Amino acid sequence: MGGRLARVVAPVLVLLLAGGRASAVWPMPQRLTEAPGPSTALSPGRFRLRYAAASAVQPGCSVLDQAFARYLRLLFGPARPAEAGEDQANDSTLTVFVVNPGCDGFPSLNSLESYTLILSEDQFSLKAEEVWGALRGLETFSQLVWRSAEGTYFVNKTEIVDFPRFPHRGLLLDTSRHYLPLTSILETLDVMAYNKFNVFHWHIVDDPSFPFESVSFPELSRKGAYNSATHVYTPEDVKIVIEYARLRGIRVLAEFDTPGHTLSWGQGAPGLLTPCYVGPAPSGTYGPVNPILNSTYEFMAKLFSEISSVFPDFYLHLGGDEVDFTCWRSNPDIRYFMEEVGFGQDFTKLESLYIQKLLSIVSSYGKGYVVWQEVFDNGVKVKGDTVVHVWRENAGSYRKELERVTNASYRALLSAPWYLNRIGYGQDWVEAYKVEPLQFEGTPEQKALVIGGEACMWGEYVDATNLTPRLWPRAGAVAERLWSSKDVTDIQSAYLRLADFRCELLRRGVQAQPLYTGFCKQEFFGP
Ligand SMILES: *[C@@H]1O[C@H](CO)[C@@H](O)[C@H](O)[C@H]1NC(C)=O
Ligand SMILES: *[C@@H]1O[C@H](CO)[C@@H](O)[C@H](O)[C@H]1NC(C)=O
Ligand SMILES: *[C@@H]1O[C@H](CO)[C@@H](O)[C@H](O)[C@H]1NC(C)=O
Ligand SMILES: *[C@@H]1O[C@H](CO)[C@@H](O)[C@H](O)[C@H]1NC(C)=O
Repeated sequence: MGGRLARVVAPVLVLLLAGGRASAVWPMPQRLTEAPGPSTALSPGRFRLRYAAASAVQPGCSVLDQAFARYLRLLFGPARPAEAGEDQANDSTLTVFVVNPGCDGFPSLNSLESYTLILSEDQFSLKAEEVWGALRGLETFSQLVWRSAEGTYFVNKTEIVDFPRFPHRGLLLDTSRHYLPLTSILETLDVMAYNKFNVFHWHIVDDPSFPFESVSFPELSRKGAYNSATHVYTPEDVKIVIEYARLRGIRVLAEFDTPGHTLSWGQGAPGLLTPCYVGPAPSGTYGPVNPILNSTYEFMAKLFSEISSVFPDFYLHLGGDEVDFTCWRSNPDIRYFMEEVGFGQDFTKLESLYIQKLLSIVSSYGKGYVVWQEVFDNGVKVKGDTVVHVWRENAGSYRKELERVTNASYRALLSAPWYLNRIGYGQDWVEAYKVEPLQFEGTPEQKALVIGGEACMWGEYVDATNLTPRLWPRAGAVAERLWSSKDVTDIQSAYLRLADFRCELLRRGVQAQPLYTGFCKQEFFGP
């Protein structure tokens, strides 16, 4: 029965992979030219990654020093033979030339990730404007090296000119519904880099738990984490994540979602949440953050001061989604306040009041912000440089939403069709792959306001046991859509390359799930 069902669900993609590796880079570069002629053999012990003499960055550059070590290990394994001797006939070097200096900074929305990779018979060269582009080029190089049946390493004569289509290519992990150990986050960052993702959207806290250890408000995680000793991210953990991401050219976009999605904050911050009422009496349950108290804003000012200095990225994600008004409506103090300020029954005005105050707090720390689409939908006045994150899926209406958001001159991020936590039988990566982010009514100026998108892995049904296989290679579909040219849409070709890339992930020790029937030369045999 399983077999018959499989044929019904996935009739088109029954393809066999040829032996050996097809010419496969994932995501597909903007321009790739493979020259005819014999492939060049690489001798593991005699292959070098070097800084070009005229490069603006030189040995000692943390980002590239570590990337060189990492990619040599990925290519040839941890125990690369050290080949000594006079015979340098088989020596080969990939020379890396970076135009602009800078190794110690953080990647940003404006980072340049373009690169040119030339692999000819007598020289391998990689050129990039910034170290971030050099990282992308090294990844591409690592995917071009292949191994013959006899175990010899080869690389074909190839020229690649490459750059991302969108500057914001993100992946959201949710560490509140389930705690994800540091190792899961770091492994995800590794695989993100293999896919050229460049933003880790860390949805760090939410209703179920508050694992972020705050220095200003230690009670938040002490009372709000699942376990305040084992299920928390200490300041040291957070630093590790940020640096690990930086070394891979990945920004960390932290999200502290308010005023809804904050139940876990309540225990450690008495008086922060709105007491809900049943009739004239408090029911003992709590709703969103209480927007009518001065103490709320004093709390937020102090907390976001800490958050702004902990997370170096210019942007913070401030959430603002799914605010449930029933508790606010039940509370007599809030109803009184609404009367006083003339909001009547319009609770979106109260939400606006809260969000505006929060935005001005966060701006005062020199930060920009991303908000979920409801903030825009409810007409909250936000600064012109706000990024609106489109997530609501109902019946493909995200296209209308992109139209509205960009028509109002806001920049937009798309996630609605990329909720990878939703799973279905069959090849559901295809749906994610087919999305064209700019397919909505609008002027070229409007289209230019779409800065990218994010694949989301919400955590209700996901923890360290199933995160990796559920993400990969499915998130790769989003990675290619956001990096590669608009014209890269052929499903059959994508299937072959993605299946091949998934085998490469297995070779790299990533427990990526299969796309469909088939096998890999090197299967996953456990960690
Ligand atoms: C390299 O070229 C060979 C033919 O020389 C071809 O069989 C192989 O698919 C190519 N591999 C890659 C990774 O491009
Ligand atoms: C050089 O490479 C060729 C072909 O890959 C190999 O047969 C030979 O043993 C290599 N020589 C050295 C010194 O590594
Ligand atoms: C809250 O702050 C405002 C402005 O700073 C002030 O006018 C008001 O009296 C304060 N309310 C309370 C209850 O402290
Ligand atoms: C675009 O914005 C203008 C006002 O700036 C408005 O009149 C128009 O209805 C908007 N169109 C859409 C599709 O939202």
